[in-house]
Amino acid sequence: MTATAATARSLRTAGLLGLLLAFVAGPWLLAQGPGGGGYFIPGDAKAGMKTFFDKGCVRCHAVLGEGGKRAPDLARAPSGHLSAADLVGAMWNHAPQMWEKMRQEKVPSPAFTESEMSNLFAFLYSVRSMGEPGDAERGRQLLFEKRCLECHAVAGQGGRAGPDLRDWASFRNPVSWIQAMWNHAPAMQALMRERGLPWPEFQGNEVADLIAYIRTQTTGTRRHVYLQPASPEAGRVLFRRKGCAACHGLRGTTGRAPDLGTRALPRTVSQFAGLMWNHSPAMWASMQAANVPRPQFSNKEMADLIAYLFAERYFEASGHPQRGARVFEVKGCGSCHAPDGRGAGPPLASWQGRITPMALATALWNHGPVMLEQMREQEMPWPLFQPGEMVDLMEFLNRGAGATRAQGKRP
Ligand code: HEC
Ligand code: HEC
Ligand code: HEC
Ligand code: HEC
Repeated sequence: MTATAATARSLRTAGLLGLLLAFVAGPWLLAQGPGGGGYFIPGDAKAGMKTFFDKGCVRCHAVLGEGGKRAPDLARAPSGHLSAADLVGAMWNHAPQMWEKMRQEKVPSPAFTESEMSNLFAFLYSVRSMGEPGDAERGRQLLFEKRCLECHAVAGQGGRAGPDLRDWASFRNPVSWIQAMWNHAPAMQALMRERGLPWPEFQGNEVADLIAYIRTQTTGTRRHVYLQPASPEAGRVLFRRKGCAACHGLRGTTGRAPDLGTRALPRTVSQFAGLMWNHSPAMWASMQAANVPRPQFSNKEMADLIAYLFAERYFEASGHPQRGARVFEVKGCGSCHAPDGRGAGPPLASWQGRITPMALATALWNHGPVMLEQMREQEMPWPLFQPGEMVDLMEFLNRGAGATRAQGKRP
């Protein structure tokens, strides 16, 4: 561990750890729980951050701009959302290049236990949904451009119609912002209308920039506002109880408003905050028309609700076993993992009911180098996965690869 520890130190760990702990200790710990029809992460994001260091990922990869620079930043890339299964797909696709680099640098490829991998996934998931820290200078301009200063002061400078936003400097996370903006939007909207001000809209990372600026305005000791870990399960209940479900569908269920399922939501929480804000007037009008009271949220409730919406999207609907069987054949897995045990690799029927993205990623890291060796001997290219193929493959393996056809097990 000393080598890793040294690297970690040389990489300004203190800064990274501070930054990440602030986020990770925030509301983004993913709770586990059944339901949703997908695969849940039973991991601990904070422990996962340690895994990220201990296994040496940080030597090559950065998260949120801190760490190694020789491989993609795992918080940033790629731009769209990535389900847990697609994350395994990405690791799988890049694995041979990664192992090659490790070989060149004489770093052993790390082995994982499944719980370590779960923690790592929870960590990567947290940092991905946090996005990059905002640009404070840009945030300062935005307060002016969006005309917030006509009603709000920041540290005494600005309007007086609304509260001084400096009090917000202690809110470290965008969830508190979404919650406040949501609760106060009707009053703000009324006053803006009165003054002939347009409803300001936020694009891209602008909410993150704004938060970054306001956070520079603290005086004295910072009041830390830590939230309890969010619970997607509680969020599922709130989605109905607060009336969101009356208008919004999730994954194709019909609603009177945009579907909030898989693809519709942005990648980061602060982008989500912007979205809620932008749509607030139209939503409010539609609530008034439908005679639905506008729900109010506590911080914890908003965190739960967002955890639910994000988890729904992260844990894609389960895959399709028939398509998975085809993936298994086309990628050549079947040529080594024959059900009768006559191939170069072990039969995978024993994985029945045990496959999760984390289990598969664990197998990839632990057995992949030997697999790659075998493929090279057979002059077989390393199979690559398209988005969506991994989740189908998982479904097939979960039903007992190969055994299904013979025994027709499980519905
Ligand atoms: C020796 C350097 C090195 C180490 C150590 C390393 N990686 Fe990588 N990793 C790379 C490189 C290089 C790529 C890009 C490969 C390519 O372009 O095909 C990559 C790609 C990836 C990708 C795909 C990224 C994407 O955007 O598609 C994932 C996920 C990943 N690595 C995870 C990990 C994890 C988890 C660890 C720690 C267990 C780790 N890597 C350790 C070098 C490394
Ligand atoms: C037309 C005046 C007006 C403008 C413009 C305005 N606000 Fe407000 N804002 C208010 C008022 C009034 C309140 C208090 C509302 C209430 O009590 O429900 C408020 C409340 C808030 C709160 C909650 C504060 C707290 O302490 O609970 C936040 C956060 C906020 N505004 C952010 C913004 C941002 C960011 C902008 C610019 C995009 C903005 N406001 C533009 C009038 C305005
Ligand atoms: C009375 C119906 C109604 C209710 C209740 C409602 N919404 Fe909406 N929502 C809408 C409409 C209509 C839009 C589209 C607004 C527009 O086009 O600007 C919308 C848009 C949104 C958007 C932006 C979607 C996108 O992809 O652009 C989000 C996020 C959202 N609502 C979240 C919520 C949440 C969370 C709740 C529960 C607290 C909720 N809504 C309750 C009607 C509703
Ligand atoms: C060229 C032969 C070969 C191909 C093709 C191949 N594998 Fe493997 N696989 C192996 C070998 C050999 C092992 C055992 C490696 C070891 O002992 O570390 C293995 C191990 C595994 C394991 C862990 C098994 C266990 O019980 O621990 C999994 C899961 C796996 N492979 C999945 C796949 C998938 C999915 C594919 C297709 C995308 C695939 N393999 C393609 C040879 C292959």
